[in-house]
Amino acid sequence: MPIVPAAPDAIRRAAQALVRGNIVAFPTDTVYGLGANALDPRAVAKVFAAKERPRFNPLIVHVPNLAEAAEYALINEPGRRLAGAFWPGPLTLVLKKRSTCGIADLVSAGLDTIALRVPAHKVAQELLAKAALPIAAPSANRSGRISPTTAEHVEAELGDLPAMILDGGPCPLGIESTVVSIVGQDPALLRSGAIPRESIERVLGVPLAAAKAAERGSSPGQLARHYAPNTPLRLDAISVAPDEALLAFGGDVPAGAPRVTLNLSPSANLEEAAAKLFAALRELDQARASAIAVMPIPGGGLGEAINDRLRRGANRG
Ligand code: TXA
Ligand code: MG
Repeated sequence: MPIVPAAPDAIRRAAQALVRGNIVAFPTDTVYGLGANALDPRAVAKVFAAKERPRFNPLIVHVPNLAEAAEYALINEPGRRLAGAFWPGPLTLVLKKRSTCGIADLVSAGLDTIALRVPAHKVAQELLAKAALPIAAPSANRSGRISPTTAEHVEAELGDLPAMILDGGPCPLGIESTVVSIVGQDPALLRSGAIPRESIERVLGVPLAAAKAAERGSSPGQLARHYAPNTPLRLDAISVAPDEALLAFGGDVPAGAPRVTLNLSPSANLEEAAAKLFAALRELDQARASAIAVMPIPGGGLGEAINDRLRRGANRG
């Protein structure tokens, strides 16, 4: 069994596994990642294979700090501002890659840009320090499925494909990083995430642009179908049928509550809801319900990322 508590010795062994070209799963502030040495194309290929991820979908590279990020990418003024405000933390910056950076081309799917982030999680930071490598790590789920927020979720998704699954307990934020491209003229939001759009716009002093079609194509976290449970999701439910499971939010739960109800946040707190979302979807997916009815969740702040994941999870296309 590859789940190992993230004690110092286990982190050291995980770092060695990365150095040897193997893949390991580890906790971050957002979700669990499936990591590989970003400098080693064969190691990176193992990540794509384990996830059955299309090769055109580029990976995020995790680095310990801004100084190291600057070795791999050109960091312009808005980039510096955002990094200063949010790193370490759940912000991924898409930047122009340095031609000398040594990161495997497969990581950015052949693009001349690279997505970098500095995770705010003790285990992730210790792993980066011990491995002394940039770590390419997408979320540790099979492609198109719900991101894992516990070590057990990773094992359910990937079994013993990772050499190790470092168990650091549930991820504190529970939803992926916000991805912002600062390559073009105007900073663009490529994926909503754990840092609300409003917070980023406050730091930039300008509204975030929508992702252009070309960027969307290169950021398939934006693909319509993603984050999907096997049970259909029925969104904005104000009533619930007896054979449905219910994903509730707030205190105003519809009557006739079914066999299985989980409440993302009885007090209607969006941070609590984001942290619980993926685990709740997994649990309700086990209920053999005809559908998962999801109560409306307000759209501002973290609600944008929560609704984005729900919408794409609901898309059966
Ligand atoms: O919170 C997170 O970001 C987690 C943890 C493990 O760090 N990682 C994560 O990785 O969610 P992944 O691979 O599931 O999502 C990466 C997103 C995708 O939408 C991908 O298309 C986009 O980042 N991306 C990566 N490199 C890019 C690039 N060069 N240009 C545009 N989008 C890029
Ligand atoms: Mg993912």
